[in-house]
Amino acid sequence: MVKELPYFAGKEIPQKYLGEYFFNREKELKELKWKLERTPPLNFALYGQRRVGKTSLIEKLKQELEKKNLPIFIKCEELLPLDELTFLENLTLRLLEEYSKLSPLLGVKKTMQDLVITTKIGLEMADLAFWLRFGEKKITLKEALDKSFDLINKISLKSKKKVIIFLDEFQELFAFGDKFLWALRAKIASSQASFVVSSSWHRFKEELTHEKRPFFNFFETYEIKAVPKEEARDFLLRRARKFNLCFDEAVLDKILEVSECKPFYLQLLALKCYILSLPRKKVTLRIFEAALKETIASIPAHLVTGFERLRGRNKEVFLVLCLFDFKKPAEIASKIGLDAKNVIVILARLIKEHDLVKKERNNYFTADKFLKEYVKLQYIDNSGN
Ligand SMILES: Nc1ncnc2c1ncn2[C@@H]1O[C@H](COP(=O)(O)OP(=O)(O)O)[C@@H](O)[C@H]1O
Ligand SMILES: [Mg+2]
Repeated sequence: MVKELPYFAGKEIPQKYLGEYFFNREKELKELKWKLERTPPLNFALYGQRRVGKTSLIEKLKQELEKKNLPIFIKCEELLPLDELTFLENLTLRLLEEYSKLSPLLGVKKTMQDLVITTKIGLEMADLAFWLRFGEKKITLKEALDKSFDLINKISLKSKKKVIIFLDEFQELFAFGDKFLWALRAKIASSQASFVVSSSWHRFKEELTHEKRPFFNFFETYEIKAVPKEEARDFLLRRARKFNLCFDEAVLDKILEVSECKPFYLQLLALKCYILSLPRKKVTLRIFEAALKETIASIPAHLVTGFERLRGRNKEVFLVLCLFDFKKPAEIASKIGLDAKNVIVILARLIKEHDLVKKERNNYFTADKFLKEYVKLQYIDNSGN
């Protein structure tokens, strides 16, 4: 058996481990649950930086909703949306799977293939299965969309429960273009189910609030942010106690500060501290420093890619922002011999297009502190050559 660790850092926390590793988010859970269970239910859009805990929150919410409702969790990126039709086919397969769970005749273990062959769940299902098998035989996008949403209504009818559909990484569908999005909007609007979509795409909020875009004012938007400090501290300590792990008081503050209470970094730092402290399990400042160094050296790949994609002036401005704690465009401008005006334009690009910079009260910062430290490390290493 795999040994339990005090902390968990990675992608979403798996459902069966939520009890151990998921903390806080009570406000979000309460509000979302209430608004989803009431009638008429609302449609939500959750947004926030990567690894801030959107999918984990959805997993938890799903668990809580399961008692009275029928929540269905769908990861858009797993449905491989190469094109609209493939996406809708895959979506329908997923929904068929849910539908088949409702039919005692079939049992949960039956695979889709069995379903297709035996078609025990009735004529419409046979019809659907046929379409999915011979999908290449011209079906229009409209028909495909109608079928998948019909199936959602069938699931609500048959289960007699409120169906709540979660579409994680919803921004994947934006690649299909506006015509598809308008049609999807109309379908969601008239569906009996509620929809909760989520996305890390930094332009997502803009998409939902821009009056010319298909989903303008459609979802109630909800930002997922870092967790409150006290809750983070309680969580770290609660787990530490279970493992006889002991943090020096100063270390605990450091973890909270450096991670900015973003749950992923919080857990990653604490986990590395734990591992480096073995077998004594006493986390000193020195151990923390070593854990921090390791964390910086192994930041998530999407951050590294984001940085490496930068070219020319964009890269120069970002580098200067990382290397010298400058916050003002004028400071950056004088360092690289550009006009402050131009620097502002570049910074705006780094915010909007690259999601690498953030602006707070006319001061500029790197959006991820760990990337900043990573860049520093790279720069110091490379400049030696
Ligand atoms: N509520 C939470 N409690 C504890 N850890 C969390 C929580 N939310 C997120 N995390 C941490 O962040 C990591 C990434 O979470 P995830 O749900 O995949 O984020 P997102 O979907 O926003 O990218 C998890 O592996 C876990 O370490
Ligand atoms: Mg996620």
